[in-house]
Formats: sequence, structure tokens, C-alpha cells
Amino acid sequence: MCGIIGYTGNGGDVLDVLMNGLSGLEYRGYDSAGVAVTDSSLAIHKREGEVSALESAVSDSTIEGLAGIGHTRWSTHGPPSDANAHPHTDCGSRVAVVHNGIIENYQELRRELEADGHEFTSETDTEVVPHLIASALETGADREEAFRAAVRRIEGSYAVAAVFDGSETVYAARHESPLVLGIGDDGHYLASDVPAFIEYTDRVVYLEDGQFARVNPSGIVVTDEQGAVVETAVERVEWDPEDAGKSGYDHYMLKEIHEQPKAIRQCLRERVTELDSTVVVEELADLELSEPVQFVACGTSYHAAMFGAELLRERGIPAQTFLASEFGTDRVPIDESSLVVGVTQSGETADTMRALREANSVGATTLALTNTVGSSAARECDHVMYIRAGPEIGVAATKTFASQQVALAMLSSVLSAESSPAFVERLRALPDQIQQVLDESDARAVAETYEDSDAYFFIGRGFNESVALEGALKMKEITYKHAEGFAAGELKHGPLALVTDRTPVFALVTSERDAAKTLGNVQEVKARDAPVIAVTDVPEKVSEYADHVLEVPSAGPRFTPVLANIQLQLVSYWVANRLGRSIDKPRNLAKSVTVE
Ligand code: F6R
Repeated sequence: MCGIIGYTGNGGDVLDVLMNGLSGLEYRGYDSAGVAVTDSSLAIHKREGEVSALESAVSDSTIEGLAGIGHTRWSTHGPPSDANAHPHTDCGSRVAVVHNGIIENYQELRRELEADGHEFTSETDTEVVPHLIASALETGADREEAFRAAVRRIEGSYAVAAVFDGSETVYAARHESPLVLGIGDDGHYLASDVPAFIEYTDRVVYLEDGQFARVNPSGIVVTDEQGAVVETAVERVEWDPEDAGKSGYDHYMLKEIHEQPKAIRQCLRERVTELDSTVVVEELADLELSEPVQFVACGTSYHAAMFGAELLRERGIPAQTFLASEFGTDRVPIDESSLVVGVTQSGETADTMRALREANSVGATTLALTNTVGSSAARECDHVMYIRAGPEIGVAATKTFASQQVALAMLSSVLSAESSPAFVERLRALPDQIQQVLDESDARAVAETYEDSDAYFFIGRGFNESVALEGALKMKEITYKHAEGFAAGELKHGPLALVTDRTPVFALVTSERDAAKTLGNVQEVKARDAPVIAVTDVPEKVSEYADHVLEVPSAGPRFTPVLANIQLQLVSYWVANRLGRSIDKPRNLAKSVTVE
């Protein structure tokens, strides 16, 4: 939800570094983009639209400078427009500011500044920051003091960065929005996320809430709220710069779908080995089971959490799943004996973070299951398990979902202290089975047959229910078509009224136990003339009722649904592709939703 970048250094063309960085951050928002490059004066360029619109706008310019900042926006305050695009500046254009987050007291600050004669040119909350900085400069504060004074006045969440005319220093601060510093050989970086600068350096420092950074070509100084210098640890990120590119695929989403075998191998690495039949998740060695286990998550991660809760219940451990945005209103019974698991690939989702913070505040044990090292969830929870999917740039989650499912399967084994050679073998077989689905899938042909349908329905039971919901979510977010997922048995309690010959139904029929009942539901929709696409490992049982069969290998009742989901990802991808949708950057969405 908005991405920011900053760079100062001797080694590169500032504008190039900023534009590359914005491309790496575009998954965080793509309503508008802008850069500010500082030399003796500030050069600010911003455009409504995707980063490519800004690229065209700056392509002929010869902006040179000492340092710069950039921003790609997902609108919260004020619609997408050139004026609302960041960076924002003060009346005298002495300072430029980019911001990710929400400034909750901006109206009050804006009224105060306007009363003092400041003129505003945008509808954003962010614009108060450069004006606050300018006010502080007028009182004689130096640049750093002025930046700190402005940050002290704002309430809410922020990762904020500023540059001043004639200065090569970038100032930054964070509170509840991500900010990571990059230590390069010829310069230094700051960004909302590592893909912004991974092609230049893999050495990073994660800024904590309440910390400030002063970034110069010669070094980085991190300070606390009082200005005292803080010792920081430089970490190496394992991401390969290649992982952040499209590697010849037309879309990141398709590339990431195809990366799932690799993602799952990474997730399993050193946690399940050929030598024994146990699952060992080293980072969870001190985690104790406490019942019921409560999962909190949003969107796709919520579907993964549903899958995880069911895996625990199957092992006899009570587990519940809550939408993180409803956690505060659901009166979830938590206290110091509770175990609350936040499932969040970004580790930054505001709704999930609020729920986890609430759990922390009552003394519950919290566990983050996340893809993002150094994220808020990773830092604030008592325990963290990384899903190790690698960077996911496509806004629609694909490989992170599969990695969450597999990580949750391992978590269920750890919490129940139960494993078996068969369970471990199933896990170890998954990457090759996923590869087989990718190699043999007929999803593209199915997509071509049904690309102009009125709506798409997805039904599944048991472990397949969460996959049905996920299949529908993927379809809606990238095709903009109506799609709904249901527990298969629920169809007859209302949704059946929507079923026609123009509404294909994807039926997940993958386990011996549930197959017969779901087949009953399939016949109910067939009787209403709906085309049926069965996703199944038992084609012999299904084919007589289905118009199309998307086959998957058998991986047992728990894991065949993981494979079935890959088929649904491919169908959605190809429908969206046929319809010419903006697959990696669906309208109105952003990958990391840092507002509630
Ligand atoms: C959909 C999607 C979203 C996210 C949701 C939570 O494809 O990606 O539904 O799952 O916004 O995000 P995280 O997992 O980062 O907490």
C-alpha cells in the first residue's frame, strides 16, 4: 500500500535507481508515481497512472542529482491525480516528502498550517509533512531537527522519507509501516521492501518503529526518538535478483505460479529430510501448544488459515479462524494462555497486525507465519515461522498461498508432536507433483471455453472448502468477473438460484471420504444445466458428470487440494489473459494493505 524508495550515492544515476526501485515496488500501489531528485534545487516529477506513465514523462529529461526519493501510490486520501501523487513539497519547494501509511491527525494539522499561511495543493494527508518541516526550518531548526519535529507531530502509521534542496542526505522515519535500509558499495538505499534495491545490494538493516535514519553516500546513522544513536545489525537477504524479474514470462503471476515447486522445496528445506520421518521447524522449538489455536488473517491468507485450522482439528486440536478485520468485534476469547497465529505473507497487513497487537497486549502467545523477513509481524510476534516463498510481485497471491498451506501442514505436525513417514513422504513429493500439474494442465483450454461466462462458482468440502473460496477470490481479483466459492453442501441453501447454463461450476472432488457427497452436489448443478469442471484425482468417478476434467495427481486428502488449487490459479490466469486484464496489477488493489 504505497511504496517508497530513497537513494543517495556516488555510484549510479539517481533517477535510474529511483525508477528501477519504483518498478520493484509497483505491486504496492499503482495509482500514481513520482520522484524528487535533489541538486542545488529540487526537481519533482509525478504522474497519475502506473510507473510507466512517469517513465515516459522523465524519459527525455536529464535530471542529475545528489540524492532522491520516489513513491508509487495506492490512494487513501484523495483520488489518483498528478496533484495527489507524491512527492509533496512545501510552498518554497525546499523539501520533498514521500510517505506510506495514514496520518490520522492531518486535518487538524492542515487547519493549523493553513491558519499560518501555508497553501496546500493536494487532498492528501501527507502534504502536511513538508509544511511542518518548512515551519520548523523557519524557526531556525536545522534540516534534521526540522524533519524530526515534523515526525513528532504526526499520528498514525508512516514510513516517511525526505530530501532537501542542495543536500545529499535522505532522512527517514518509521512507525507501523515497513522501511528497510540497503547498504551498497557505492551508495545507500531505503525502501518499503527489498525488491526496490535487490539488484544493487543484498545487505539490509530493518528499521524498527520509532527509529529515524540519516542516509548519506558515506553511511547510515540510525537514531531513536530521542536522537541517541542505535546500533543496528546488517543482515543479508537470500533473494536472488533474478527472483524479482519476470524471467521471460508475460506476467509475474504466471512466473510465480510456475515457481511453486521451487517455493515448496524452499519451505521444506531442512524441516523435512530424507533421513527421518519427522518435521523439525527449528524456529518453533520453544513454541508450546495452547488450545484452541486461533488463526487471524485476511483474504488469501485467511483461506490458508482455514486450511491450517482444519489440519489441526483433524489432529484433534481445537482451532478457530478469524478474519483479522473482525477480530476486535468478534469478542474472541483470548488471554495469556491463548496461542494466536497471524497468517500474513507481507507481515504488514494492518488488520492482521491490529489483531496480533491486541493478542500481544493481553499476554497471549503470538506466532507470525510470514514470507517477509523483518516485517512487523515477524518482529512483533513471540515466534515466527517463515514460509520462504521468495519475492512475490504479482498482486494476486499464488506461490505464497501454496507455501502457507505447506508451512501450516508442518505447523500442525509440530503442535501435535505427531508425524509419520507417510506424512513426510507426502510433503516431500509435493514439489514434483505440482510440477506435473503445471506441465500437464488443460486449464488454458478450459479458460478459453468459458472466458465469456456470466459468473463462476467453486465448490468443495473439507480441505477443499478453503480452496474453493481461494479459487473464486483469484478469479474475481484478476478477471473482474463475478465468482463465488462455497462449501459444496451450502449450494442448495441459496446460491443454487444463481446457477444457469452460463455459470460454470468448478467442483473440487479430491478425497475418497468427501467425493460421493460432492458428486451429489455436482448432479444438482448439472440438473440446472450448469457446465461442470471437475478438479480431481479420481477422474474415473467424476467424468460421467463433468463437462471437463482437470486432473491432479493423488496426494492424499490433505494435500490433493493443494494441487487442485494450482489448476484453479491457471484457469483464472488464462481467463484474465484472454480478457486482456491487468493481471499483475488488478484495478483498485495493492499487495500489502496497510490501512484498516
Ligand atoms: C489476494 C491477496 C490478498 C491478501 C490479503 C492479506 O490474492 O493476496 O487477499 O492475501 O490482503 O495479505 P497478507 O497475506 O500480506 O496479510
